[in-house]
Amino acid sequence: MKSIIITGAGSGLGKELAIRYSRQGYHLLLIGRTFEKLKEVEEQIQAENGHADSFAVDISSPSEIQAFISQAAKQFTIYGLINNAGIGHFGPFEQMPHAEIEEMLHVNVLGTIYISQAVLPYLVEKNEGLVMNIISTAGLRGKINESGYAASKFAVRGFTESLQIEYGHTGIMIKAVYMGGMDTPFWDHNHFIKDKSRLRSPAEIADKILANIEKDAIIIESEK
Ligand SMILES: NC(=O)c1ccc[n+]([C@@H]2O[C@H](COP(=O)([O-])OP(=O)(O)OC[C@H]3O[C@@H](n4cnc5c(N)ncnc54)[C@H](OP(=O)(O)O)[C@@H]3O)[C@@H](O)[C@H]2O)c1
Repeated sequence: MKSIIITGAGSGLGKELAIRYSRQGYHLLLIGRTFEKLKEVEEQIQAENGHADSFAVDISSPSEIQAFISQAAKQFTIYGLINNAGIGHFGPFEQMPHAEIEEMLHVNVLGTIYISQAVLPYLVEKNEGLVMNIISTAGLRGKINESGYAASKFAVRGFTESLQIEYGHTGIMIKAVYMGGMDTPFWDHNHFIKDKSRLRSPAEIADKILANIEKDAIIIESEK
């Protein structure tokens, strides 16, 4: 059975993608920092007769990534990686603490880059697989109060577009996904979005991603 690793699979879009890829017959490796949330998703997948395993991994730690991937590669047939884990800090640029900017760069950018680097040799070995990077429309254009977040998402866009060229001659699919706001726990840590219920559900976004999976760049704008 082919396995797909999903980072940040315990909530929001990562959880919805995990459930859908399980229905397509893949085994899911659910990773994130909070084991309990992953376990709930794992149980939901198993209740539908799907297959999943949970691992507490902080993708801002290169050593945790390396240890997890080398262990996972011994036990499972790694087919795919969905770089979904991400965090956002928002507000006026001049007031943004360095710690918040650095956290976004460590998780959104370096986490994505280092885990991709750890996984790709296993995909190259089989000359097949999927790397899907969940970006944001903040990776397509700058936005007010989103300077640090947009900088991190533009970085992931540049990374993804480069991999698309570098692996263009292989059987490995590299996807970039850009979406507008979603109603997920992403917004729980700040007051930037007053009413997140007006945003699209992560389930709807996950369905749209899978419906457009043949595209290299999947763009799902917010409804006006
Ligand atoms: N919500 C939106 O409006 C929106 C719009 C466009 C793009 N996005 C992007 O969509 C992706 C998914 O976000 P979401 O909206 O579904 O938010 P979410 O529910 O908060 O999901 C993000 C997940 O990432 C995990 N995570 C955070 N830091 C991590 C780390 N260091 N290591 C491992 N896992 C980590 C979190 O779990 P733990 O805290 O347990 O680790 C969480 O489950 C993110 O990349 C986000 O930037 C979101």
